Amino acid sequence: MGFQQEIERRRTFAIISHPDAGKTTLTEKLLLYGGAIQIAGAVKSNKIKKTATSDFMEIEKQRGISVATSVMGFEYDGFKINILDTPGHKDFQEDTYRTLTAADSVIVVIDVAKGVEPQTEKLVEVCRMRNIPIIVFINKLDRFGKDGFELLDEIEQKLHIRVTPLSWPINMGTNFKGVYSIFEDKLNLFTPGKQTIEEYVEINGLNDSKLDEIVSAKDADKLREEMEMVTEVYPKFNKQTYLDGNISPVFFGSALNNFGVMELLNCFIQIAPNPLPYETQERVVRPEEDTFTGFVFKIHANLDPNHRDRIAFVRVTSGIFKRNEFYTHVRLDKRVRFSSPTAFMAQKKSVIDEVYPGDIVGLHDTGSFKIGDSLTEGEMLHFKGIPSFSPELFKYIENADPMKSKQLAKGIDQLMDEGVAQLFVGKTSGRKIIGTVGALQFEVIQHRLLHEYGASCRYEHITLFKTAWITSKKKAALDEFVSRKGSSLAVDKEGRLVFLAESKYALDLAMDKYKDIEFHFTSEF
Ligand code: G4P
Repeated sequence: MGFQQEIERRRTFAIISHPDAGKTTLTEKLLLYGGAIQIAGAVKSNKIKKTATSDFMEIEKQRGISVATSVMGFEYDGFKINILDTPGHKDFQEDTYRTLTAADSVIVVIDVAKGVEPQTEKLVEVCRMRNIPIIVFINKLDRFGKDGFELLDEIEQKLHIRVTPLSWPINMGTNFKGVYSIFEDKLNLFTPGKQTIEEYVEINGLNDSKLDEIVSAKDADKLREEMEMVTEVYPKFNKQTYLDGNISPVFFGSALNNFGVMELLNCFIQIAPNPLPYETQERVVRPEEDTFTGFVFKIHANLDPNHRDRIAFVRVTSGIFKRNEFYTHVRLDKRVRFSSPTAFMAQKKSVIDEVYPGDIVGLHDTGSFKIGDSLTEGEMLHFKGIPSFSPELFKYIENADPMKSKQLAKGIDQLMDEGVAQLFVGKTSGRKIIGTVGALQFEVIQHRLLHEYGASCRYEHITLFKTAWITSKKKAALDEFVSRKGSSLAVDKEGRLVFLAESKYALDLAMDKYKDIEFHFTSEF
């Protein structure tokens, strides 16, 4: 197969949802279709259960599972599909944002009874920022939930996306009979509890009398009526509009019952984008370029405490990545070579010789990679769109064992490179402040410092509302701000200036008073 064909047959996407909407179940069913797994229940959720906030073993276990299920590749109908897993727990949302930078499209799972939940809103907002094409899967139709039209309205309003259904449910809950596939003009019939390949009945349009025979005259009429409304209200599906991120097709089904999943998958492979170009500060990188480029979007520590190495997940953005070839680690301006790059197929990892655009390769890392780093054949490229967000929670971190200060410094350094949290050092006090997006990270950091680096830390309270990276086009203005606000300033790991706002009031006041200072809430500016 030629290089161009290899690119065209790749589909790299992420499934996002509010916890419990059915992301793990859907992933598993998709893998079943790909023949990548044989039995249901094989994909373990990497979500950290709500009860686990203080259960470290659980966190460790979950971390282990999430390495295995970080990327799940499989072959289906001539396509190479890569599912990028995203952590469900809200404290790990930033990991999800970063994973989305490596995806070309997403499938959003929504629980028919719960509708659009807060975490989904946030995640879709990030997708919209990048215009990532979105497909919506409304799940759990075997249960009673919201009316189809009501849900579509809610999705449009809360997620700010335009939708058009490509399938339509015939009832729901105990009365659920199946879906009518608008995309293929077929009936897909539902048999409760039957978790097998779906049963399709070809019909000749909605007026076919077969429809009445199969689902009853009453339900057939209801479907006809509803479909009339669908046709009136929603635009006809157009692939290009979807690819531009301007319309999202919607499917209905039940992942647990393996219902509506094949339909989703068959449509997905036809319409979802193959690997897309990426923007760098220097130029746009196209997948079909001859030379290899890629960037690190995730770093995972090894679970084995005797091997403190890590896996850096690299999305290949152009050319072919080859084993044992020398590449340039752009940030360090250093030549590097990898003898055992890993490919991810289902839950198996295996050494691979060549990796194509759209695929993810796992590289052994002894601490030289950071999120966002690029690898190239020599060109100094810096990928855009992989920001850190201004954290929400803050604590001072102190050394609790003076004999281990080196270990602590190294541990903190490496955990920050992995993107677990952000470190700020007070400009006048010199004290280290850890900033996170979720409370769980503080526990994870403390636990990992102890178990992986042999260092103990202690947290101390800090009154801090928000941090903002600050810049100014006017040097004098920046100098003045620095001299006035000395004790409220810190530097991040890259040495950039950060304003520490004690309260919303203090932040608003500073932004109001110092008009020549720009305040940034993501690290990319
Ligand atoms: P998540 O990854 O989005 O957090 O959700 P997950 O797939 O783990 O699903 C959450 C719960 O919803 C699971 O039940 C799962 O079995 C159930 N579920 C998923 N799809 C459907 C569906 O189509 N219909 C119905 N009725 N339930 C569905 P659980 O009891 O929390 O977990 P488990 O013990 O079954 O694993």
